Amino acid sequence: MQQRFLGGIPGGLGVVLGAHLVLTQAHAQAPEPFEPLPLWAYAWSTQPQPGDGPVVQPWPSRDLREGDDPEDVATPRTVEGSDAIYTRIDIRDAHDVIDWFPGDHPPMPDIMRRGPESLISVRGWGCASCHLPNGKGRPENAPPAGQPVEYTIRQLQDMATGQRFSADPRKPNSPTMTYLAAAMSEEEMREAAEYFAAMPWTPWIQVIEADLIPEMHLEEGNMYITVGEEPTEPLDGRIVETPVDEFQANYLRNPRSTWIAYVPVGSLARGEELVTTGAGRTIQCAICHGPDLMGLANMPGIAGRSPSYMMRQLYDMKVGTRNGLGVELMDAVLADLTVEDMTNIVAYLAALTPPPPSTGESQ
Ligand code: HEC
Ligand code: HEC
Repeated sequence: MQQRFLGGIPGGLGVVLGAHLVLTQAHAQAPEPFEPLPLWAYAWSTQPQPGDGPVVQPWPSRDLREGDDPEDVATPRTVEGSDAIYTRIDIRDAHDVIDWFPGDHPPMPDIMRRGPESLISVRGWGCASCHLPNGKGRPENAPPAGQPVEYTIRQLQDMATGQRFSADPRKPNSPTMTYLAAAMSEEEMREAAEYFAAMPWTPWIQVIEADLIPEMHLEEGNMYITVGEEPTEPLDGRIVETPVDEFQANYLRNPRSTWIAYVPVGSLARGEELVTTGAGRTIQCAICHGPDLMGLANMPGIAGRSPSYMMRQLYDMKVGTRNGLGVELMDAVLADLTVEDMTNIVAYLAALTPPPPSTGESQ
């Protein structure tokens, strides 16, 4: 099963899901770009080449992996403020997702912890393994917390039917997402959407305008990791999103560990103009995304969320790999925007602090 799934994507036409053959993004060659891929948003250092397929993701198993120090991965770990104890093997077991802070979110349904019922026998991925139990996600996946139920269900359907996929054919986790969406029942889609919607969006990204940033190591297809201390690396028009504490965010997958986004100097002001006035090149975002850009009816919230994720969405919609009913409303918004405009827009959006949740809950 594992072989067929992983092997099926790059060259083949589909993925075998139980008894069903599902067409996937295997046909997705790099689209004809209107501008080259903004590499920082997809976490690569080079443009995709014809014939490129997804880099294989590890299956959610408890087996030792290449390069593991068996003693290290079996060492019990704790994080501040939690009574839980997990080893690294527990932490990366995507089929039985760990939960450092059960009090930070509603009780996790099985779909969050273990993944779709139809994949239980092959140990599929629980949604919370990538999107975290608090639904805030990470730069390399998506932040579904606080999004309207109907919006989320529509996205899962668009991914399941192959209408929504990444403009970067190498992106390792997008085919996994598609595979999971296609394996979900309608009931599971609603259950997941209601779980995410029940958690109001709260800020956790610090946005800093900078010309020079600390030296970064790019984990290709994943994210930037800070390795230097002094600002020596030119930002050079990119947005670089990185964990404040790599050990906490990555090794321990502590969902309270926060993020920094370095954005180009001047991008916040330029982004503000585009978002709030349209600047003659686009439509004011608040008309559809709500006065505080936190979503309106079935429209998604776009404020205070990962700028890398937001950039990938704008680019994917613009080049046509993200389709679906709702996307048509974004066509006129995107028609005249350049990659630089989009960079300014997502920098500004990420820096917007969402208003406190109206329910009065604290988090
Ligand atoms: C292997 C990691 C991974 C797992 C596990 C995973 N996702 Fe995702 N998810 C992604 C990626 C990657 C994207 C798309 C990112 C992009 O387009 O750049 C995504 C996007 C989404 C979105 C779209 C969010 C939006 O704002 O439009 C939703 C909703 C979602 N996932 C729900 C789920 C649910 C429900 C599950 C569990 C059945 C799940 N995901 C499991 C990686 C994952
Ligand atoms: C005419 C209505 C409309 C306007 C104006 C609009 N949007 Fe959207 N936008 C939508 C809809 C509808 C979706 C959901 C698409 C779907 O269902 O896949 C969306 C989705 C998005 C997403 C993806 C969200 C996610 O979680 O994946 C981003 C980012 C976005 N819009 C940014 C913007 C920005 C920035 C502006 C202003 C420059 C803007 N939008 C203006 C209707 C609009």
